[in-house]
Amino acid sequence: MFVCLGNICRSPLAEALFRQKVNSRNLQDHFHIESSGTSNYHIGENADPRTIETAAGLGVSLDHSAQQLSVQHMNVFDYVIAMDESNFTNATKLDFNNTGLKLLKMRYFDPSLESETDDVPDPWFGGSEGFKEVHNILDRCTTAFLEHLIKEHHLI
Ligand code: 4NP
Repeated sequence: MFVCLGNICRSPLAEALFRQKVNSRNLQDHFHIESSGTSNYHIGENADPRTIETAAGLGVSLDHSAQQLSVQHMNVFDYVIAMDESNFTNATKLDFNNTGLKLLKMRYFDPSLESETDDVPDPWFGGSEGFKEVHNILDRCTTAFLEHLIKEHHLI
């Protein structure tokens, strides 16, 4: 479960990139992949047009309906991957009882953490440059995350 604030910019792109990589390795039977937001601001909406455009450039057509992260999600997913510190903190506040849950930040898996922050920056208020940067970060993080899972769970 990939998590951001609105579930219309960062986490739908993380979901799409990760699914593309999983499918290309023919590992889809091992995964149930979703994304959500910690807020209720955009429930039911498709991804932001700039996210749709970014995904289209990767050959992925986004047919998305934004949802809010719930305690039920926290109880059934094995991994909840937060885009930034605020999403991470909000997720920890849900009253879940999944003792095996791995709640981690996306950039924990970033092989080239260049900036001071380990957040995936929120591109909502900026222009298309921000979406390119988010795409680059998420591309390398989702690759590294999948490699981690393949090793950790002996998927290949
Ligand atoms: P996201 O981006 O969390 O990456 O989906 C945002 C989307 C909407 C808002 C903020 C961030 N908003 O304030 O509505």
